[in-house]
Amino acid sequence: MNEQFDSPLFGSPVAGTEDSGEHAPRRGAMIRTSPLANHAGDLKALARRRLPRIVYDFLEGGSHDEISMRRNRADFDALFLRQRVFDHFAARKSQANMLGQRASMPVGLAPIGMSGVFYPRAEICVARAAAAFGVPYCLSTLATCSIEEVSAAAGGPFLFQLFMMKDRAINASLLERAAEAKCPGLVVNVDTAVQGRRNRDLDNGVTIPLNLRLWHLFDLVRRPRWVARYLGNKPTLANLAPYAPGDSKDLASVSDWAEPRFKGAVHTEDLEWLRQQWPGTLIVKGVLDPEDVKIALDLGADSVVVSNHGGRQLEGAPSTIEMVPRIRDAVGDDAELILDSGVRSGFDVLKALGRGANGCLVGRAYIYGLAAHGEQGVAAALHLLAQELDEAMTLTGTGNVNALPENLVFGPSSRG
Ligand SMILES: Cc1cc2nc3c(=O)[nH]c(=O)nc-3n(C[C@H](O)[C@H](O)[C@H](O)COP(=O)(O)O)c2cc1C
Repeated sequence: MNEQFDSPLFGSPVAGTEDSGEHAPRRGAMIRTSPLANHAGDLKALARRRLPRIVYDFLEGGSHDEISMRRNRADFDALFLRQRVFDHFAARKSQANMLGQRASMPVGLAPIGMSGVFYPRAEICVARAAAAFGVPYCLSTLATCSIEEVSAAAGGPFLFQLFMMKDRAINASLLERAAEAKCPGLVVNVDTAVQGRRNRDLDNGVTIPLNLRLWHLFDLVRRPRWVARYLGNKPTLANLAPYAPGDSKDLASVSDWAEPRFKGAVHTEDLEWLRQQWPGTLIVKGVLDPEDVKIALDLGADSVVVSNHGGRQLEGAPSTIEMVPRIRDAVGDDAELILDSGVRSGFDVLKALGRGANGCLVGRAYIYGLAAHGEQGVAAALHLLAQELDEAMTLTGTGNVNALPENLVFGPSSRG
């Protein structure tokens, strides 16, 4: 199969970008790797080396003792894929409809606030890589490049993720800007009524005010490349900066202004209001309970992201891979359910589909690539996910992500 990748990373085309999403067989072929990464672990290891510890921990950490965050991974690992050896599909199709788009594989890039701390002009890098690969990208309200900047540079559509503000006029203005940028979808986050306490950040002095210590300085001295890039492109909350008063639009002043103005809890009236305001695809992100999913769908959501925020919010929350089958049973086959939290590989993606999701979002998995190599690193992360998904499809006898074999996934907590 993809011996011939058409990409500067691999030297030739990747499954499902400009091609039809069909993958020819690769029996007996040597695996063609990227010069940037043999596997996802390379990107993570490099991200860890390149980022100061407080920045890496901000990315990597979960809430409190990180029990839910670990559970996300443990529950994926506990599941089995059903290996099949006699039914092979000469061409496997990974294209899928998700979040109102035709995607080259059932994977999108989750909104990650403050991405500019990982790499300069981060959201532009990510949007470009996503558009080139043909997968959806959700730009966070807390992005460090504005909707307008990303729109001018992305080379393709992207979705806008809204953290609702108390002031409806600001919400309306953000929606107007997203509509002006032709964002096809609005993703409203509903799982941050209060921010989960992240012990790693507290231990690292990432508090208000910042509690900087001598080791921070030593850590920075060891990462001159990151420091130079950061100082050359100091990030701010670019989407919110226009609403903050005064001339100073740096990260600290805009964050200070914004912090008390976030709405936090999103109520059903808010969803009703958003549904009236936003004619495009409306996606509700951060739902974990079948009852809440039903409410969101009844209020007109086109899609729901089943998420525990990567284990960063409710400590003790179940994993999403555990909850998705129950939610599917409760809402039926027609509802679009996108799963995130803990997805690290194409094998995880196939497991999620087998458990009833229509697609996945990845967060940290692509940020590792971004922190390691910028836009090319995000592209490398996407290529690896696509390769792994194709390998998983081949070895499970899956010809099409939209027509899965029976009992594809089983395991201790599976209904299969
Ligand atoms: C550093 C970081 C920042 C995040 N920022 C946002 C955000 O601005 N908006 C949002 O809806 N979710 C945010 N999330 C949650 C992600 O969108 C996504 O739900 C989560 O990363 C999925 O888990 P994974 O990282 O294990 O793939 C953030 C997650 C991380 C790790």
